[in-house]
Amino acid sequence: VTEKLMAVAVIERIDRLRARLADARRDGQTIGLVPTMGALHAGHRELMRQARRGNEVVVVSIFVNPLQFDRQDDLDRYPRTLDADVGACQSEGVDIVFAPPAAEMYPDPPLSTVRVGRIVDRLCGQFRPGHFDGMATVVMKLLQIVQPDAAYFGEKDAQQLAVVRRMVADLNVPVRIVPVATVRDGDGLAMSSRNQRLSREERPLAVALYRALRVLEASVAAGETDVATALRQATAAIPHDERLRLEYLEIVDEHDFQPIERIAAPAIAAGALWVGQTRLIDNVRLVPPGR
Ligand code: PAF
Repeated sequence: VTEKLMAVAVIERIDRLRARLADARRDGQTIGLVPTMGALHAGHRELMRQARRGNEVVVVSIFVNPLQFDRQDDLDRYPRTLDADVGACQSEGVDIVFAPPAAEMYPDPPLSTVRVGRIVDRLCGQFRPGHFDGMATVVMKLLQIVQPDAAYFGEKDAQQLAVVRRMVADLNVPVRIVPVATVRDGDGLAMSSRNQRLSREERPLAVALYRALRVLEASVAAGETDVATALRQATAAIPHDERLRLEYLEIVDEHDFQPIERIAAPAIAAGALWVGQTRLIDNVRLVPPGR
């Protein structure tokens, strides 16, 4: 029986996971962690594939983390598809799915949390108070529980990736953070668990944010350096439709996510767009000519 055909182990308890990983570590095996909230899609599969290629043991965590939701209705409506998720992990050759109940992760409301300053103040952080603190706290807990050699994060959540990188650097967490390129649908829509919430009529509209980001990319590549001008052009590319509401579209420094006025070095353009009741985010890297 090849390793790929072996059943993925679904583990709910931290002590059991630690015991299983201690064995692997004793055998000198490297461990890769893919943290997720489930509702796995092609973007997650790409994370799993990279983790599979780079490590002897692959752990996928599936935990809808209540701490990172700023609205109860968003937490309640978040898709939960554990059986299908375990199937996806199995077919990607994952070794362990760590799917703890909330009481296992938070036996008591935590008094210790992680807050990464400055990077979290803008963009999504401004519109989702506490989101990045909750995310950083659970990622820190997962890194402590699994103690992986490498952990894999999608570039679709660029601000999340920047927060995690800074947390790991600031707190000397011995893990390699591996960024994985955004996986897109045929029309360019970034894969997201939230896409499942779009109605058939809303789905074609959802690509509007990526189209606006592509306008930005093209104008910066053509030599535009003024952020306000570039943003005006991109915003104008979003169709007027009562179901679409642009929450933000900004250009920020690629490391600390602070706003810039001129694009003199590679930068990140990031946005959040409401499509009906669904909030979608996306970003692109802007590279001025010759950089
Ligand atoms: O990106 C996600 O799915 C979540 O924010 C993460 C990293 C799994 C933490 O809950």
